[in-house]
Amino acid sequence: MKKVISVSVMALAVLVLTNCSNGKKVAAAPVVAKTNYTTDVQTIVMAKCSPCHIPAKGGNKLALDNYASVKNNIDDIIHRIELTPGTRGFMPFKGQKLSDAEINAFKKWKEDGLGEK
Ligand code: HEC
Repeated sequence: MKKVISVSVMALAVLVLTNCSNGKKVAAAPVVAKTNYTTDVQTIVMAKCSPCHIPAKGGNKLALDNYASVKNNIDDIIHRIELTPGTRGFMPFKGQKLSDAEINAFKKWKEDGLGEK
């Protein structure tokens, strides 16, 4: 009987320890992904700034089809997409204002340091 108890106590201990260490791992290293160009920004530019700014699609305006260019123009981009539609300089040119989530993706990307990926 004693043996059975000690075995089950050990099994319980292993169970508790395993669960605890798992829990600790999750709590100790919360991975908060930073916004980056490849994951968060590129898709929006390709969808909303096309074709005008995408040379491969026939655009002849400032090329925004690559990381360096979007990064180097981020202040102008944020300024323009936040303007009221119809205002001079508003982007997308003669188009619909981007959603708040899309605008925030550009802003958050800047805050996070403009990483590529
Ligand atoms: C329908 C075509 C069209 C679309 C779509 C469009 N643009 Fe433009 N963009 C233009 C034109 C035309 C100009 C030049 C006129 C001006 O500066 O207002 C311009 C100019 C710009 C400039 C200034 C470039 C320079 O010459 O220095 C930026 C920055 C810009 N657009 C960003 C964007 C962004 C970001 C998007 C997508 C969210 C976008 N545009 C979508 C037509 C477009």
